[in-house]
Amino acid sequence: MGSKSLKVGIIGCGTIGSQIAHACQGLLKDKVNLAAICDSDAKRALALKQDLKKGPAVLRQDELIKNCSLVVEAASARISGEVLDKCVRSGRDCMIMSVGGLIGREELLTKAEKKGVRVYIPSGALCGIDGVKSASAGRIDSVTLTTRKPPRGLAGAPYLKENKIDLDKITGKTIVFEGSAEEAIKGFPQNVNVSAALGLAGIGAKKTRVRLVTSPDYTKNIHEVEIVGECGRIFTRTENVPSKANPKTSGLAVFSAISTLAGITRSVRIGT
Ligand SMILES: NC(=O)c1ccc[n+]([C@@H]2O[C@H](COP(=O)([O-])OP(=O)(O)OC[C@H]3O[C@@H](n4cnc5c(N)ncnc54)[C@H](O)[C@@H]3O)[C@@H](O)[C@H]2O)c1
Repeated sequence: MGSKSLKVGIIGCGTIGSQIAHACQGLLKDKVNLAAICDSDAKRALALKQDLKKGPAVLRQDELIKNCSLVVEAASARISGEVLDKCVRSGRDCMIMSVGGLIGREELLTKAEKKGVRVYIPSGALCGIDGVKSASAGRIDSVTLTTRKPPRGLAGAPYLKENKIDLDKITGKTIVFEGSAEEAIKGFPQNVNVSAALGLAGIGAKKTRVRLVTSPDYTKNIHEVEIVGECGRIFTRTENVPSKANPKTSGLAVFSAISTLAGITRSVRIGT
């Protein structure tokens, strides 16, 4: 890809979006042009614009999609499906961080494929996506994700409210959820995007199993993946440092988004 030919627009100027924006003008400055940003909270978008060396345009979502060649969604699972839909309709490539918003809307990925729109889903805070993708060429018997997060990394999840689980009353290691990745995403839309990515990369969100464990003793966001199948057994464990700005988000998720963007601009790609 030619120098600066990638015109990037970022939707969501929070923890992930703002760090991607800084990377566009730092690590990736010779490769991409950060053309526009947008946030439902106008103050956040303006603050980020002022913080950047070369202020990108602050646009509304539809204008941003029209004016960019690669749209980066880093806002919310409530809008990621809609953003992808608009990108597919307008023929814009798209990187989705709020992967959970695509579960139940997998047909959008089929539409993107048919239209030749490239959709990038970073591996996020998880290691093992490469393994499940490779294993998918053969038979997979099971994919299980065990996620351990401190209580503040789960705060505000609808599942906790519905099941009257009070995080302040948890005193030791507790399994707060067990079910499919599809159910996990519904119950914890801001906490287990990795389970959606794992599901999409492998046997689907309905068949991928998820276990969520918390304890006041935990200080890291830990993801363990076990894949069993024709290839043998794969086990990965990722111990993430939670981001200071948003403890639900891990530092590696931000790095993975920046690396995905770097990968788009390269002709040599390593891994599946
Ligand atoms: N794929 C992964 O591995 C992974 C990891 C962590 C977080 N995430 C997801 O990525 C997204 C961003 O995470 P974050 O840590 O930066 O969150 P954040 O809360 O720090 O920032 C989100 C930003 O998006 C804005 N926003 C919300 N709704 C919007 C809308 N409708 N239109 C425009 N802007 C909107 C908010 O005002 C905020 O500035 C979240 O959905 C999160 O769940 C994904």
